[in-house]
Amino acid sequence: MTDAPNKPRKGIILAGGTGSRLWPITLGVSKQLLPLYDKPMVYYPLSVLMLAGIREIAIITTPEDQAQFQRLIGDGAQWGLRLTYIAQPSPDGLAQAYLLAEDFLDGAPSAMVLGDNIFFGHGLPEMMASADSQPAGGTVFGYRVADPERYGVVAFDADGAVQAIIEKPAKPPSNYAVTGLYFLDGTAPARARTLTPSARGELEITSLLETYLADGTLRVETMGRGYAWLDTGTHESLLDAGNFVRTLQARQGLQVGCPEEISFTKGWISRAELDAQIARLGKSSYGKYLAAQFG
Ligand code: DAU
Repeated sequence: MTDAPNKPRKGIILAGGTGSRLWPITLGVSKQLLPLYDKPMVYYPLSVLMLAGIREIAIITTPEDQAQFQRLIGDGAQWGLRLTYIAQPSPDGLAQAYLLAEDFLDGAPSAMVLGDNIFFGHGLPEMMASADSQPAGGTVFGYRVADPERYGVVAFDADGAVQAIIEKPAKPPSNYAVTGLYFLDGTAPARARTLTPSARGELEITSLLETYLADGTLRVETMGRGYAWLDTGTHESLLDAGNFVRTLQARQGLQVGCPEEISFTKGWISRAELDAQIARLGKSSYGKYLAAQFG
């Protein structure tokens, strides 16, 4: 399979699914649009891609929810981004994102983030810059969790080399979960086409990663204990994640996951464009933050 190393990396936010573990709150609204403290959940993974320097991004949603995402974020120009919306008719697995986004990617390498994954940690931009600089193959991030059986789990051999990645193993071979942030080269869609659905009927991301592992081109970087990788999959963890953001923001007086701030700091929008957004958001504490920070 050939790669296109010269094309800039594009982003994918996978924000579909039924959100059934959060019913009834997600019966009427997409999980990734729920508030995580003071902003919609999707702002956090979008900010992660922006911190990786990615400006061309596809947002994959259910067909029903697409209009609401568009109402919230539009074409992304207000943050110096170019957004494309893609519908996923049914939640047939994470790896299906690469089939749906094949035309959008057009051979480019990608960084896909799950729309309900929250990352926070010193050095995250540098860690992503390193993953972005790899000319071929894939990079994923392992994170130690107390309950690995809920995730894709990394199996290491005696020398610490990655042996396998197993989806929701009954007996986890390690405590290292694979987080929902995947840096893959331009061959990902072609690889996804070779996959068959798992026993639960999904094109598994772990199966896609296994193809890279088989080629010896998968890197698993460990996010150390100084990082937070938060879950929003249950009512409790959703509230905990919101409280985490609130605590951090109150203590530091700095926002977590603020696209306006990232975009302006990176020079992607002008002062006048920032001011227009501050004026629009002015009444909320979010808008007041921006005004105080950049006023
Ligand atoms: O969060 C990291 C984990 O995400 C990984 O460790 C696992 O390997 C990976 O399979 C995935 O596990 P989950 O059980 O968390 O996957 P879930 O089905 O909850 O989907 C994750 C998000 O992706 C969720 O917000 C819904 C969205 N999604 C899911 C599927 C299956 C889609 O948009 N489309 C889909 O087809």
